[in-house]
Amino acid sequence: MPPRPGDIIELDVTSLAYGGQGVARLDEFVVFVRGGVPGDHVLARVTRRRPSHAEARALEILAPSPRRVPPRCLHSSECGGCEWQTLAYEAQLEFKQQQVVDSLQRIAHLTDYELEPIRGMDDPWRYRNKMEFSFGTDEGGRLVLGLHKRGSWREIVDVQDCMLASERMNRARLAVARACRDLGLPAYSREGDGGLLRHLVVREGRSSGDLLLNLFVAARFPQEADLAERVQADSGCTSFAVTVNESRADAALGDGPYVLVGPPSLRERVAGVDLQVPATAFLQTNSVMCEVLYAAALRLAAPEPGRPSVDLYCGIGSLSLPLAQRSREVHAVEIQQEAIDAARVNAELNGVANAAFYAGDVRPLLRFPPHPALDAARADDGDRPAVVVADPPRAGLARKALQRAAALGADRFVYVSCNPTTLAGNAAELADLGYRLAVVAPVDMFPHTHHIETVALFERS
Ligand SMILES: C[S@@+](CC[C@H](N)C(=O)[O-])C[C@H]1O[C@@H](n2cnc3c(N)ncnc32)[C@H](O)[C@@H]1O
Repeated sequence: MPPRPGDIIELDVTSLAYGGQGVARLDEFVVFVRGGVPGDHVLARVTRRRPSHAEARALEILAPSPRRVPPRCLHSSECGGCEWQTLAYEAQLEFKQQQVVDSLQRIAHLTDYELEPIRGMDDPWRYRNKMEFSFGTDEGGRLVLGLHKRGSWREIVDVQDCMLASERMNRARLAVARACRDLGLPAYSREGDGGLLRHLVVREGRSSGDLLLNLFVAARFPQEADLAERVQADSGCTSFAVTVNESRADAALGDGPYVLVGPPSLRERVAGVDLQVPATAFLQTNSVMCEVLYAAALRLAAPEPGRPSVDLYCGIGSLSLPLAQRSREVHAVEIQQEAIDAARVNAELNGVANAAFYAGDVRPLLRFPPHPALDAARADDGDRPAVVVADPPRAGLARKALQRAAALGADRFVYVSCNPTTLAGNAAELADLGYRLAVVAPVDMFPHTHHIETVALFERS
């Protein structure tokens, strides 16, 4: 009999599912268990039943897994930040690699490729160069600035020292919270009673030491300049900005940034190129592993000095520029205009004159190509790219975008993925479009979380 919600059952957790939950079986019925790591024997309460599986939450670890380790963070039991920190890092790497292999097999039926061992971090802590903190109030009504409680959009854990952020980023967060309290600024409330403070995004240039703080608020407010001055004096930030989010959506989005202190961007250096990163543009969040990721992508891409390369979803050009240094030219596409503007500045900053950046959505842009190297109809002349690199968001490439990218006829297609399930879906489509999966190289950009990054090389059959 499959278990019912409310049932309390004993389970052996045997593996991890993509998404981070433990997997157990009750007879042959699959139960996903929050709070259980492989090897644990747990007492769990069933929270939900679906036709194919049930979900449960561990109430008590009856016998701990030999691969369990003590958490480093004081808040690990309540904070939603790094759910895998109680699993030994070596085991995390093993499971992540296995999840990539499983996704490719289950979704794309692909098994015949070279698997490079997952690359992990020597020191897998304090690796994030960007953190998004949320404002709230504690039980006594005091303003707090921390991370969402696991599974809750309302409650904020007043984290003292987040082990994913640098000590400097944590100090900056505490400085902002202190200054906001001193000025009597209230947290925003979705319950309709107003308030002001919503989120704080902290970004750090690990190579430059730049520290950019972007405060998300419900409206501009009179104490802005005072707040910026206090925070700068206390935290040593190089930039301080406010962004206005008037919507009810609980996201760090909005009108701005209005920069009150310092430049509107921070500086970072990756893969031998200097980058200006605007406050809202994408940058790989783990600077140390970004080097490893890009080294793998460039090695597998094998750009050719006499031929063009294409970089789709290029962001601020952080990978396009090293690609350009190894190619005849690069044609790079990105939807965010601000990122494209930064990519052009970055090209100039690094003396790269052979990179062309196009602002637009990949799918329509490849339908009306701005250059022959992006034109499938011209695929056989000297403009045919040696390699197409694609680094899409989590959803992967839409079918039409993938078809058009494949139609460019590059010898190699290098796919940088932050989601093994959409990578696998696209891999199956690429196989139908004449690209054989040759090499898979997982890279651990996000230790202690379930997120997995993979570089995959497809070769034109
Ligand atoms: C995972 S990031 C990769 C950026 C860059 N390759 C890097 O390593 O920093 C994905 C990028 O795709 C952009 N993007 C999202 N949807 C897009 C679309 N439909 N067309 C073009 N770019 C898009 C995002 O703005 C973001 O910069």
